Amino acid sequence: MTILTIFASSTQEIPEAPAVPRHIAVIMDGNGRWARKRLMPRVMGHQRGVETVRNMVRYCIELGVEYLTLFAFSSENWRRPVDEVSFLMKLFAEALKREVVKLHENDIRLMVVGDRSRFDASLIQAIDAAEKLTAHNRKLTLTIAANYGGRWDILQAVRRLLEVHPEKAGNFTEQDLASHLSMAYAPEPDLFIRTGGEQRISNFLLWQLAYTELYFTDTLWPDFDRRAFNRAIESYQRRERRFGRTSEQLNPHV
Ligand code: IPE
Ligand code: IPE
Ligand code: MG
Repeated sequence: MTILTIFASSTQEIPEAPAVPRHIAVIMDGNGRWARKRLMPRVMGHQRGVETVRNMVRYCIELGVEYLTLFAFSSENWRRPVDEVSFLMKLFAEALKREVVKLHENDIRLMVVGDRSRFDASLIQAIDAAEKLTAHNRKLTLTIAANYGGRWDILQAVRRLLEVHPEKAGNFTEQDLASHLSMAYAPEPDLFIRTGGEQRISNFLLWQLAYTELYFTDTLWPDFDRRAFNRAIESYQRRERRFGRTSEQLNPHV
């Protein structure tokens, strides 16, 4: 049995704006450039990037973040050289195998979102097993977006909704659709971080980022340390999250 929690939708109601973000979503960018700066092959940057993932999980737990979502491989990353793609797949499979017990011991629930159909059978099996093992953990939900694309997510949600409720064709609500998105188990992200200097969304969580605070930093992902993380949090904490209202409505006595 699945228990579906309905979280506040930022366009349908005014969600809370917690001082500590409940949900942080990250585009981990800059691995290749980090390696090239050191005259190393790009893939060494990906390897170092895994270290940053481990640290990031720790920072989030210490701060009390409930959901951490990391973009590991986009639906467009298949366009990269074959060798780099297979290295990334291998790295993902190895990290999964190595880390899953530690995640479980630390009360972390692991979820993987994205189109799994292009993955090897053994990787699909490892993902299923990891999700099942950690399903009831509560300290942090760590989501890895792998072969994920925001447009894919919206499309698959529409398809699934119409499969379950064909009578809703033509008159379904935002909530109907949102409940079929691949991250329906999480609130919308409060904070989005992109490392590596680019200021774009690159087909990440298109629907869910509607009212997320966006933070871009030039720091390359392998260099994203505690200080860099704290800077992102401090930036978030200085934002006024109005969700369409005026500043005066939020601060009536100023
Ligand atoms: C992000 O780093 C990791 C993935 C997309 C898998 P990049 O590999 O994009 O690094 P740059 O942007 O080339 O430096
Ligand atoms: C976005 O990074 C995807 C991931 C971090 C997994 P890219 O490096 O692939 O993005 P673009 O191509 O520069 O937009
Ligand atoms: Mg990149």
